[in-house]
Amino acid sequence: MQKILDLITAEVTKAFMECGYQEKYGKVTLSNRPDLCEFQCNGAMAAAKEYKKAPFMIADEVAARLSDSALFETAESVKPGFLNLKLDNAYLADYLQGMRGDPGRFGCEKAKNPKMIMIDYGGPNVAKPLHVGHLRSAIIGESIKRIGRFMGHNMTGDVHLGDWGLQMGLIITELKGRKPELSYFDGDYEGSYPEEAPFTISELEEIYPTASAKSKEDPVYKEAAMQATYELQNGRRGYQALLSHILNVSVTDLKRNYENLNVSFDLWKGESDADPFIPDMVQKMKDDGYAYLSEGALVVDVKEEADTKEIPPCMILKSDGAALYNTTDLATLVWRMDEYHPNEIIYVVDKRQELHFIQVFRCAKKTGIVGGDTKLKFLGFGTMNGKDGKPFKTREGGIMRLETLLSEINEEMYKKIADNHTMDEEEARETAKVVALSAVKYGDLSNQASKDYIFDIDRFTSFEGNTGPYILYTIVRIKSILAKYRALGKTAEDARILPANSESEKALMLELAGFSAAMESAFEEAAPHRVCAYIYGLSNALNHFYHTTKILAEEDEQAQAGYICLLELAKGVLETCIDVLGFSAPERM
Ligand code: ARG
Repeated sequence: MQKILDLITAEVTKAFMECGYQEKYGKVTLSNRPDLCEFQCNGAMAAAKEYKKAPFMIADEVAARLSDSALFETAESVKPGFLNLKLDNAYLADYLQGMRGDPGRFGCEKAKNPKMIMIDYGGPNVAKPLHVGHLRSAIIGESIKRIGRFMGHNMTGDVHLGDWGLQMGLIITELKGRKPELSYFDGDYEGSYPEEAPFTISELEEIYPTASAKSKEDPVYKEAAMQATYELQNGRRGYQALLSHILNVSVTDLKRNYENLNVSFDLWKGESDADPFIPDMVQKMKDDGYAYLSEGALVVDVKEEADTKEIPPCMILKSDGAALYNTTDLATLVWRMDEYHPNEIIYVVDKRQELHFIQVFRCAKKTGIVGGDTKLKFLGFGTMNGKDGKPFKTREGGIMRLETLLSEINEEMYKKIADNHTMDEEEARETAKVVALSAVKYGDLSNQASKDYIFDIDRFTSFEGNTGPYILYTIVRIKSILAKYRALGKTAEDARILPANSESEKALMLELAGFSAAMESAFEEAAPHRVCAYIYGLSNALNHFYHTTKILAEEDEQAQAGYICLLELAKGVLETCIDVLGFSAPERM
């Protein structure tokens, strides 16, 4: 279905043209004075200059043309030359009826030319537990992936594990100190290695910080770790076998954690997967004359004339020949381009890494790793702060594990739900989990991603205001009305959405009609907060309608069935929206 605003614009444009004015003046927008009208067109103001007429004369003519249009209840010309529009109730009801007849999509058309889009999000580091710093990338990336899919694009999410570099050497070194007898450390060993990892996830999570601390104090230890890293990266069998153990153990745990967040990835590639592409890539950069030695390091210049701040050269290899974060990101682009030919790659990463990505993107474009028709987009997100305005920490001031954070919120939610309800323990626990997830995700996604925000558990878990639980509460309210209606033995299957009977009903209908526009703009701007803003407005309209309308007590069967149809549509739209945000609604709460 066409977007409602496009249909209205087409109608007004037609009127402008019939009155002898140019097409471009017919553009209609949502009203910025909802007390006066629903939509407005300011074209007559602009046309006045070109046609050397008073704007209100033009507006008058166009309004007269629109007077018998089926789209509008009123099309008024208002001085000095605005067109104030109110949609016809029957027209709006028909439009919504069309949405209702398109289950699952509600009139939102898929992209005519689907794009292949990769999203680099999550970005966890193996052998380290997920902490709150990883929350935003996962939540935002997942939502952008889902929005893209809904719009019909081919979205591939890659977790891009941090699994390369010194951290691996550190773990190997520490392990060697603890269990030197293991075959992995015997350079002469030629047999196969055990299937089972020589450590558990909790050991691994303890080994890494221990090793990291030791290396800071003990230069010999650090040297050993660097040597181990070097040998690993140069193919030492035993170390490679250990790397796969570390990956397996870690990835299993990461998957479990991401599952709890309702976040998933199509690809579990890591930095280490890019390693085989490095030598050829570097050679080519040298051959093509892009890479040169500067103080022993291999670099590519990436500054541009228009730069207002200095963009240092992109370092490809350190003076000891070691690869860096830049190098793996560039080599990752090599295989992504080769295997997927994406139209676009979106990186959902902390905005403090912006300079790194400016360098990598410029270098990739300059050296031809990424061609002109692939867009590289850095979606940098702000910091999640505590109520004190500083980066979110545990009460003791440490870095908070994601698991801890989630279980604290689950607990908080459980108390609320158990307090005022008669649910049994199991249902209350399940419901608490579902609602808690909405609190965390909506709390994050409702902010523009690039901004810092305050993680305020009390506010996020509130059932009132602009929160996830409020949205879920609205959906649950609809579900309950629909269930009660069915319990009366009635069905609205053959009924239809009827013209609005009241202001509040019309307002709800107008909100519903804006669904495709909201999804489209959320996709185009890679902005889940658009979806949040949309469902907040829709929920408010719905609750207002609910409070001002007798629904279950309505005596006119047809009118009642019409309300039910409208509520079903609202439920479908809301559920679709929260699904692209990455959470769901319980049956009751
Ligand atoms: N592992 C990195 C970190 O923890 C984030 C990775 C982001 N993605 C990328 N392609 N560099 O900071």
